[in-house]
Amino acid sequence: MSATHSDIPVSGEGSRIAGVDPHPQVPRFGHGSRVPGWDDAVDLTKPPATVPDPALTEVPDELRREIEDAMARYPDRRSAAIPALRAAQQLYGWCSPEAIDQVGAVMQLTPAYLTSVASFYDMFALSPKPEHDVYVCTNITCSLLGGDELHEAFIELAHENPDLNVCSFECLGACDIGPMASVDGEYVGPLTIDDARQIVEDLHAGAPVLPAKQLRSRRCADPRAEQRAAGSDETTSDPADA
Ligand code: FES
Repeated sequence: MSATHSDIPVSGEGSRIAGVDPHPQVPRFGHGSRVPGWDDAVDLTKPPATVPDPALTEVPDELRREIEDAMARYPDRRSAAIPALRAAQQLYGWCSPEAIDQVGAVMQLTPAYLTSVASFYDMFALSPKPEHDVYVCTNITCSLLGGDELHEAFIELAHENPDLNVCSFECLGACDIGPMASVDGEYVGPLTIDDARQIVEDLHAGAPVLPAKQLRSRRCADPRAEQRAAGSDETTSDPADA
């Protein structure tokens, strides 16, 4: 017999599957939650948010320009919330209440709206964080190539270098240079354990990190592609030599 409309649960209790917990525990990794505080209760003592008054909120010219450029790219200005928050975080090091007020003043959005966006994504910091972001990929390809050991090496270095914000990350989309890391947004790989220390030295020197291993400096991540294009696909060379 075919189902009728009245047989089909559409919402609420009727849509639950028997025996399945509708509020399951979020799985955690051994190294902790990816978004500390993601499940903190809402602070009901805070006053209702209002859009910051542009006349009373001073915004650095460069930040204002970046936010307005981002807003100009979308039909709905709210779509620019992520690039606007990113610009503020780059300027101040984190999404401080003042930074969020400034973004809100330019975008004419409430700080509550912007905080809800920033708190969803773990690459936005709502409290002060170390200066340099080192995201080490520990997903399957990088893990098989030594990504976990690399992550451990950076954790060790972070003990002596409190300006390092070391996180393990899921696939960063650069598996062909694994094991790899994103260092302040610069993709580098394939990395050795010794490279970790060199990266820290480069960061402290204010120099480009491992220029020879930056993804952006590769003509092609797969050296065989260039050889195939040249008419020969016989190669056993290591991608690290590309
Ligand atoms: S698994 Fe590391 S970049 Fe894809």
